[in-house]
This record gives sequence, C-alpha cells and structure tokens, in this order.
Amino acid sequence: ELKLFSIWEVDEVPLPGLTKELWDQIYNFQAKPDDLILATYPKSGTHWMQEILDMIQNDGDVEKCKRDHSLHRHPFLELKFPHKEKPDWVIALEMSSPRLIKTHLPSQMIPPSIWKENCKIVYVARNPKDCLVSYYHFHRMASYLPDPQNLEEFYEKFVLGKVFYGSWFDHVKGWWAAKDTHRILYLFYEDIKKNPKHEIHKVLKFLEKTLSEDVINKIVHHTSFDVMKDNPMANQTGIPSHIFNHSISNFMRKGMPGDWKNYFTVAQNEEFDKDYQNKMAGSTLTFRTEI
Ligand code: PPS
Repeated sequence: ELKLFSIWEVDEVPLPGLTKELWDQIYNFQAKPDDLILATYPKSGTHWMQEILDMIQNDGDVEKCKRDHSLHRHPFLELKFPHKEKPDWVIALEMSSPRLIKTHLPSQMIPPSIWKENCKIVYVARNPKDCLVSYYHFHRMASYLPDPQNLEEFYEKFVLGKVFYGSWFDHVKGWWAAKDTHRILYLFYEDIKKNPKHEIHKVLKFLEKTLSEDVINKIVHHTSFDVMKDNPMANQTGIPSHIFNHSISNFMRKGMPGDWKNYFTVAQNEEFDKDYQNKMAGSTLTFRTEI
C-alpha cells in the first residue's frame, strides 16, 4: 500500500505530499505574464476546464489535445505525483510558453509572482454537496489519499474543512473576493453543464480569442462527459492503477449535478444547509445547493 503523501499545513490548510522545503519552492514559483492559471477546489471540474482550455489554445485540434494524458499535459503547481520523477512545478519551469498551470490552492496561498505578473486566472466552482461526494469517491480510488472510511466520516471532515486544500467555503469565497482586484474569470460547474457553449464564449472573451462556431461546437463535443469518459487521454485510465484504481471508482465518475441526493440523508442535508447559510452569510456568492 502506498503511503507517499506527507502532509504540510500552511495556516491550517493541509496540502498533500509536501514538506516546508518543497512548499517554499512552490511559493517562490516564478510566473510569466502569459501563463494561464486554472484554479479550483478539488473535484470542481478541473480536468473538464483543462480540456476546454487546451482545445481553445489548440484551435480545436483534437489530435493535438490527445498528445498526452491530461495529468501530463499541464502541470499542477503544488503537486508531486507518486508516478512522476519530478514535481509538477519543476516540470512547469521546463515548459515552453504560453503555459497552462492548474492549482487547487486557496487564493491566499497563491505564489505572489502570479499576482505580480497579472496572469489570467480561470476559476471553476462547484456545488459543495456534489464536491463532497466526488471528493469522497476520489479518496477511495486515489491510492495516495487517506482512506475516507465511509461517507459519514468524510462528510464531517469536509464540513470542518479538515480535508486537503481546506474548507470549500473559504476557498470559493477567497477566490470570489480576489476577482475584484485581479484578472479572474469565475465560472460554475453547473453553468458549464447547462450551457457549455455559453460558458466557452465567456472563456474566449476572457482570453481575447475568437474561434468559428464550427470549432466551438467541436470543443463542446470533445469536452462533453461521454466523450471525455471514452478518451484515454482524458479519462485517467492511463495513469498506473496503483495510483488511480478505476476498479474502485472511475475518475470520470458521474459528471452530473445533484448526485449528492443519492448519498446525503435528510438530516445531513438539513445540517449542511444550515451550516451553508452561516458560512456564506453576507457573501454575494450564491450556489443553488438544492439542485
Ligand atoms: S480533481 O482530481 O480535483 O482535479 O478533479 P476535477 O477534475 O476537478 O473534478 C472531477 C469531477 O468532474 C467531473 N467531470 C466532468 N463533469 C462533467 N462533464 C465533463 N466533461 C467532466 N469531466 C470531469 C468528474 O466526473 C468528477 O465529478 P464526479 O461527480 O465525481 O463525477
């Protein structure tokens, strides 16, 4: 059994697989002005938006987007994967520009050079109940994450923010506030699901790029759940099975808003709603947590 991930906490936010020394390297990461950053709380649609952004950057060329597994195509700023020789931030240093860099870091932990260079950032947020359920299943299938035991236990940890990357509430609110002073496009998983074309148009505008309707339709198709689920370069089945065990749960699992309803008890849901009201009180950021 792999127990590779040590835990490094920054301001009580647990980060997987790090030490103080590694964290210092990440925090001092040197961004470039043309870096595009994709920021998310885990399980919020990172790889979905990654595929959309890759298709946009490659003008809808599907073959180019199949050049490698999504986990290898673009680096995760703060991750050192057990199956990779180098940490992703070192891989990022060796990449040619323009780079697309993913991160799950909360806004207050972002390397200062990203703000200083005024990099464009796409943030994707997802309904916390679905995030919780998806994160639970991910802990089951990703060997390097602690065994979540059962949903009840994971639910408690999630609500307390005692999971990797900390509190969902702090994460979505922190980035929501950051968008007032930085170049951030703040998107919602549920909106992309409902009207992908509309959200892709927003991304294009943000990136100051135009693509033909034909290419946009191609992007919608290539990045749909069913097509990504069948795409070996997007569905993570190529990642060694001792890292991602797809026989326990697929990375491309459900891809639907509202799956939490199959897991939450009535009591858990009521408790969650109450907690949500408290923690989001006074914020202009709203999620339709009933769907
Ligand atoms: S990670 O590991 O934190 O980077 O995971 P992340 O990519 O953020 O989120 C994984 C969830 O996103 C779903 N997904 C999609 N949903 C809809 N459409 C598309 N194309 C798509 N691609 C990935 C994936 O299935 C995970 O959600 P769940 O609810 O577990 O299915």
